[in-house]
Amino acid sequence: MNNFISSMFDLSGRTALVTGSSRGIGRAIAETFSRAGARVLVHGCRESDVLREAACACGGIPVAGACGGIPVAGDLTDSAGVEALIEQVRNAVPALDILVLNASVQRYVTLDEFDEAEFLREFQANVGAAFRLVQAFAPAMCERKHGRIIIVGSVNQFRPSPRLTVYSATKAALVSLTVNAAKSYAPHGVTVNNLVPGVILTDRNAEALKSDSYRGMILGQIPAGVFGEPGDCAGAALLLASEAGRYITGIELPVTGGMHL
Ligand SMILES: NC(=O)c1ccc[n+]([C@@H]2O[C@H](COP(=O)([O-])OP(=O)(O)OC[C@H]3O[C@@H](n4cnc5c(N)ncnc54)[C@H](OP(=O)(O)O)[C@@H]3O)[C@@H](O)[C@H]2O)c1
Repeated sequence: MNNFISSMFDLSGRTALVTGSSRGIGRAIAETFSRAGARVLVHGCRESDVLREAACACGGIPVAGACGGIPVAGDLTDSAGVEALIEQVRNAVPALDILVLNASVQRYVTLDEFDEAEFLREFQANVGAAFRLVQAFAPAMCERKHGRIIIVGSVNQFRPSPRLTVYSATKAALVSLTVNAAKSYAPHGVTVNNLVPGVILTDRNAEALKSDSYRGMILGQIPAGVFGEPGDCAGAALLLASEAGRYITGIELPVTGGMHL
């Protein structure tokens, strides 16, 4: 690859936190950032072999007790877990250049099944934690006049599934956060964008997609005719995180094979 193209996507010297990167889409993003030169903090809900293995896969700068990426943990359904994550990040690195808010929780809840506890759990993990993490790390990005925030949405913010009423509402709320933060931070060299996956094959939907009839029904809603892979989201994330994306802010970027249309 020529130098001009590689410099557009080079993340050397950058430090990134990718929440929910022990598995799935987050892991693909973390590995890609690492290959582009970033030092990556790899996050899971809890400490686990899967988290340590994912951190190891993120080359970069070796750190004592870890190989490659830096593992951090915290359950985002609990505000104490969010604070614990913030503290681990602050202890591990001086500042973040890139913040990817990828972790989320979901449960199949129809309108008829509305349940306040589940509503609060999903809004805390998907929206409350996002507000808090932006609040914790964006001011230092603004001071340094550089930063990239990527908030991961869902095709459900365009086409809310009746089976995922609460989850869909959390993802719609994140669009508002994206736009607000983008406007607030643009004068300080910080971009904020919403990366919107369609149906991507991960642990999250593996069980549901075992059913041939459900699989066929969902596939019928994807104009591209195929499900996405985690790596399909990584290129879009690299664009938004790198110099190539410096003038892109406040957008919803669908990676859906056309399912959002
Ligand atoms: N997959 C899709 O089809 C799809 C479609 C649309 C949008 N999305 C969005 O894309 C993002 C990633 O989805 P994915 O399918 O890659 O997810 P996934 O495979 O389910 O990955 C789960 C990740 O989130 C972490 N996590 C789970 N519960 C958590 C909690 N309570 N607190 C903190 N972290 C938690 C897990 O950590 P542990 O390993 O410790 O459990 C793991 O790192 C999510 O925001 C999702 O809404 C996905």
